[in-house]
Amino acid sequence: MVTETSSSSQATQNPGRLEQSNPDYDPNIVIEAQNLTKVYRDFWGRQKVRALNALDLEVRKGEIFGLLGPNGSGKSTTIKLLLGLLFPTGGRAIVLGENATDVAKNERIGYLPEESYLYKFLNAEETLDFYGRLFDIPAKVRKERVQELIQLVGLEKAKRRQLREYSKGMTRRIGLAQALINDPELILLDEPTSGLDPLGTRDMKDMILKLRDQGKTVVMCSHLLADVEDVCDRIAILFQGDLKEMGRVDSLLKVSGETQIKAENLPESAHEEIRQLIAKHGGQNIVVDNPRTTLEDLFLNIVRESEERPGMRSSSSTGGDADSGTAAADQSN
Ligand SMILES: Nc1ncnc2c1ncn2[C@@H]1O[C@H](COP(=O)(O)OP(=O)(O)O)[C@@H](O)[C@H]1O
Ligand SMILES: [Mg+2]
Repeated sequence: MVTETSSSSQATQNPGRLEQSNPDYDPNIVIEAQNLTKVYRDFWGRQKVRALNALDLEVRKGEIFGLLGPNGSGKSTTIKLLLGLLFPTGGRAIVLGENATDVAKNERIGYLPEESYLYKFLNAEETLDFYGRLFDIPAKVRKERVQELIQLVGLEKAKRRQLREYSKGMTRRIGLAQALINDPELILLDEPTSGLDPLGTRDMKDMILKLRDQGKTVVMCSHLLADVEDVCDRIAILFQGDLKEMGRVDSLLKVSGETQIKAENLPESAHEEIRQLIAKHGGQNIVVDNPRTTLEDLFLNIVRESEERPGMRSSSSTGGDADSGTAAADQSN
């Protein structure tokens, strides 16, 4: 009852807060952009670049949403509009029930910019503690959260080293930890894997998936197709500021009109029989062969194996022979 009174008095104090005042507010819609448009103008106010053109978008609670597009397609502009760092030329966006231009809502958002500007002479612990103070997090909670985040992003061994000694990958990790210091509900990641090697990329993708498992909503943008394909539930494809395609990754990538059948331990001798059976049912252009692994999986397997068994890798385990399809198939497991 006490809480009811206080929340309703808050609503009257803040009539602009849509979360309390808008009866249509749906807490499951974390971001809603309508007709969102950004035109950058030059110093004289003349029209320069239409970076984002009438974007309509909805991001739901608990999903990983990807903005995909080549350089200059308006991805970073979209993220900055959602944060209220830029003012839209047209349209609007509602983020966590508030107008995107209201920067107070950013307390509930984590943001990893394309490039993190961090204090080079602080170490990881000091950096996170500093940002924790900015959010007025009490000392005890801050201390725990700093250690949790350092562990999450895998920087335990380097936590007392100054950031000026950090590699690009380590800088990206501390950038992510910094974005999470306020335990945000919504996390906006601008090119999270930029400059990372395949191992760092895989770790970053796993961290993003972990955030979703914790119930967070993640919006990430990338020009790297594999990153988006691996982690995103839904994507929007932008090109020169226009939304070209939007949907679930699995349905966008589904090839209709083809059927795939998978089996383990099937002897080669059975292939012909299967071929004939499929032909009998009218199946055309039949292919029976071993699936291919991705180069990413092959590479990661080699690195992990090398950590366990340093030295030269035996040729039988590399699958390097053009016809050793079975070895390649093993890699995909
Ligand atoms: N501050 C700015 N002033 C003028 N033009 C800009 C500015 N920021 C970005 N742009 C232009 O807007 C377009 C979209 O940029 P951006 O959103 O950064 O794309 P992306 O993140 O997809 O690479 C590009 O043509 C870029 O040159
Ligand atoms: Mg960008």
